[in-house]
Amino acid sequence: MMRKGLIFGFAALAAVSTGALFNTNSAKAAGEAIALPQLEWSFEGMFGTYDRASLQRGLQVYREVCSGCHSLDYIAFRNLADLGYSEDEIKAMAAEVSVVDGPNDEGEMFEREGRPSDYFPAPFPNPQAAAFANGGAIPPDLSLMAKARADGPNYLHALMIGYVDPPADFELAEGSNYNAYFPGHQIAMAAPLFEDAVEYADGTPATVDQMATDLAHFFMWTAEPKLEERKGMGIKVLIFLLVFCGVLYAAKRKVWADVH
Ligand code: HEC
Repeated sequence: MMRKGLIFGFAALAAVSTGALFNTNSAKAAGEAIALPQLEWSFEGMFGTYDRASLQRGLQVYREVCSGCHSLDYIAFRNLADLGYSEDEIKAMAAEVSVVDGPNDEGEMFEREGRPSDYFPAPFPNPQAAAFANGGAIPPDLSLMAKARADGPNYLHALMIGYVDPPADFELAEGSNYNAYFPGHQIAMAAPLFEDAVEYADGTPATVDQMATDLAHFFMWTAEPKLEERKGMGIKVLIFLLVFCGVLYAAKRKVWADVH
């Protein structure tokens, strides 16, 4: 009787803890004031992986639309190999930017073409210049944004599609824009996306929702480029533990065989 109770207790505990492990998203969402549309992401779950095509589209939107105001400090051009680009494609992308290097033999800083080992250049030389160009608000670095906000990917998608007309009784401060999903609803950034803001290299129709989804996917990668390796390692560890359990059980039977 005792034993049955114990086993039942363990089973219940296991069920509750697996629930807690896999349901982190809804738990986070529940604590939020504004409910975000919940998308299905390929990188979620135990076997989650990134969708290369979506990452490439997200990169394209970042480069063509967001990079004018937002830096991406933690990503170097060579990291784009993860997205499925060849070495030549990466060289070509890096060569499109100019980088300040130096000092040279005469002690002068100089500009040169970007190389794959360079990091994405920041659009403004310092925070003051960024604030001055944006009416006092500083566009934050986007490398880790998907991790810096609760329910990051869904939030980033929501923020991009959240530029709607304010309710009639809403008083919008000068220089801010109404956004349904930004905390407080007043954001200094004007809506950055509009239908066909980019022409996708792979021919996907560039609706605002599509670009928002691809951007969120891309920023999840910039925030966690090693996600696939991490998940793959977890599965290998689980398989190892299972096999090891079997080995231990067999050893136990062998050792105790004569006693029984
Ligand atoms: C013209 C400049 C400009 C462009 C272009 C721009 N942004 Fe912004 N962005 C800003 C500014 C300024 C802020 C700060 C807003 C504030 O604090 O009210 C901001 C804030 C943000 C934030 C932070 C929101 C938060 O929760 O704090 C995100 C995320 C963001 N932008 C994403 C993007 C993306 C993605 C793009 C490209 C599609 C983009 N931005 C294009 C100026 C820009």
